[in-house]
Amino acid sequence: MAESMYGLKRTHRCAEVVNAQIGSTVTVMGWVQKSRNKGGIIFTDLRDRTGILQIIFEESDCGKEYFEKAERLRSEFCIAAVGILEKRSGASNEALTTGALEVRAKELRILSESEVLPFPIEADSRTKEDLRLKYRFLDLRRPDLQRNIMTRSRICNAVRNYMQDQGFMEIETPTLIKSSPEGARDYLVPSRVWPGKFFALPQSPQLFKQLLMCSGYDRYFQLARCYRDEDLRADRQPEFTQIDMELSFADVDDVIAVNEGLLQKLFKEVLGVEVELPIRRMTWAEAMDRFGSDKPDLRFGMELKDISEEVRDSEFAVFKGALESGGAVKGINAAGQAAMPRKKIDAYVDFAKGYGAKGLAYLAIEEDGSYKSSFAKFMKPGELDAIVEKLEGKPGDMLFFAADKKALVCSVLGALRCRLAADLDLLRKDDFKFLWVTEFPLLEWSEEENRYKAMHHPFTMPMDEDWQYIDSDPGRVRAKAYDIVLNGTEIGGGSVRIHQNDIQEKMFDVLGLSRETAMERFGYLLEAFRYGVPPHAGLAYGLDRVVMLMLGAESIRDVIAFPKNKDAVCLLSNAPDTVDEKQLEELNIACVPTGE
Ligand code: AMO
Ligand code: AMP
Repeated sequence: MAESMYGLKRTHRCAEVVNAQIGSTVTVMGWVQKSRNKGGIIFTDLRDRTGILQIIFEESDCGKEYFEKAERLRSEFCIAAVGILEKRSGASNEALTTGALEVRAKELRILSESEVLPFPIEADSRTKEDLRLKYRFLDLRRPDLQRNIMTRSRICNAVRNYMQDQGFMEIETPTLIKSSPEGARDYLVPSRVWPGKFFALPQSPQLFKQLLMCSGYDRYFQLARCYRDEDLRADRQPEFTQIDMELSFADVDDVIAVNEGLLQKLFKEVLGVEVELPIRRMTWAEAMDRFGSDKPDLRFGMELKDISEEVRDSEFAVFKGALESGGAVKGINAAGQAAMPRKKIDAYVDFAKGYGAKGLAYLAIEEDGSYKSSFAKFMKPGELDAIVEKLEGKPGDMLFFAADKKALVCSVLGALRCRLAADLDLLRKDDFKFLWVTEFPLLEWSEEENRYKAMHHPFTMPMDEDWQYIDSDPGRVRAKAYDIVLNGTEIGGGSVRIHQNDIQEKMFDVLGLSRETAMERFGYLLEAFRYGVPPHAGLAYGLDRVVMLMLGAESIRDVIAFPKNKDAVCLLSNAPDTVDEKQLEELNIACVPTGE
């Protein structure tokens, strides 16, 4: 039986009763967390998104009819209660905002009943994620998810306020657009009106925000939904939201300044965390060299040290071979880990091999200063001392080394560094270490396609001093591109854009895009550039990633109300799904069996 709310008006949310006068009458509405009948007195925990409030039913206060109704209350019934706000008669509950209060009910209405739930509504649920996603509407009642979703809303608000204050205009760009498959795969939408033709869902508003610059809207921003058909990971979704921005008459430093202000305000307002400015900057080359990553986690040290010079004359075949073929030898110091058991070391060797290493050499410095090592027997004593010194090794430390092509050595040790930090519990979620990574390479060689591809996108401006190498040594050219990194995650990226025709045309040449193909794909942007394009630059954050890191959430799915699972499926609505034959006919689409 579902009763009406007629005549009642909610006066407070559950936790808001702390602002009401003791002794006043309040009307509260929400869900029954649990209800216990202690014989003659019923304690009901009422829950809404602000928290939990204890309601007490006694026949002497509310009368027989309401008391009997209260006896029927079960978890997740949706109810309204009217009563007097009192100081709690029993012991107060420190865990609740309302722990010292209770409402002595005078009236109760059951607004709707609930069937038995597939899982309990509680924080830190241990229910399997697939089941939670299927019943997402219930999952979203859990206090930790509610906190995430509410904080996300506050973050969006803070972003909007800051951007508006800085003179940015929020402008929507279309989400049915022309496909331009540079980057991830597009999600396509067939056109009924134009048989055989397709829209694409945008991977980002990139071209449209550049057009807005051409149109004179010199500071644009948008919380933009983006779609990418790519392999999913814990911090990726097929549809996600960007905080997207573009600025005219701006260079790298202008973009950085606006964004440092944004991050500072956001963290202060939402978390009360002070972000110290300026945020540290590091070139891409330095980041790769010292941390083996273009998104180094700076919450811990364990930097990569090059020992190529120290072992140049070594007879150890592994090191010698790598150096002779132009490679490098590098090491990291896992401080205090000398006593690591053999099994664990082997696991790290396997981990390194998983990243393409041929092996991983180690050297433990015992408490008495002697060495225990997989390769000491191949080395002269002085050489070992030299590499220990280079890695600032002290008794009790464990050193790991990799020898190979330099890029591989860096990526292997970079990954190992992060793995060790996780295993050694060095990663505090409430420690926020920001970093700008700048001067990315303009191009990246694709073995697969046997051509250069744009590392950021084809509209990224090369660095003035490097452009001279575009023909002789394209891989050497750096770009005016930057990423903002937080605790080892790329939360945003952007660049200064090319606004000169000759540079853009040359870029297309280098990327192997013919004039015709470039016109076919991006003609509308190139056309706009012919009519007075301002120099411009921009950046986009992955909003979901920002929220995830701010909240210390484990997965991007925990900060999105209705996410897709790891297989890019919405388990709640069962999308994607087949459609009626008639719909396909209208779209002139026939499905070809794949034989799977
Ligand atoms: P980029 O491709 O680097 O740049 O994307 C910007 C940011 O978006 C986030 N992101 C994602 N988040 C969740 N799921 C995904 N699948 C996903 N893919 C990307 C990342 C990333 O840093 N138009 C340019 C920006 C510019 O140049 O202004 C762009 O889209 O946090
Ligand atoms: P081996 O002579 O093959 O027994 O190797 C001696 C040690 O060097 C072992 O600990 C190997 O794991 C390690 N090793 C082998 N290849 C490499 C490499 N490319 N980089 C670092 N260490 C390696």
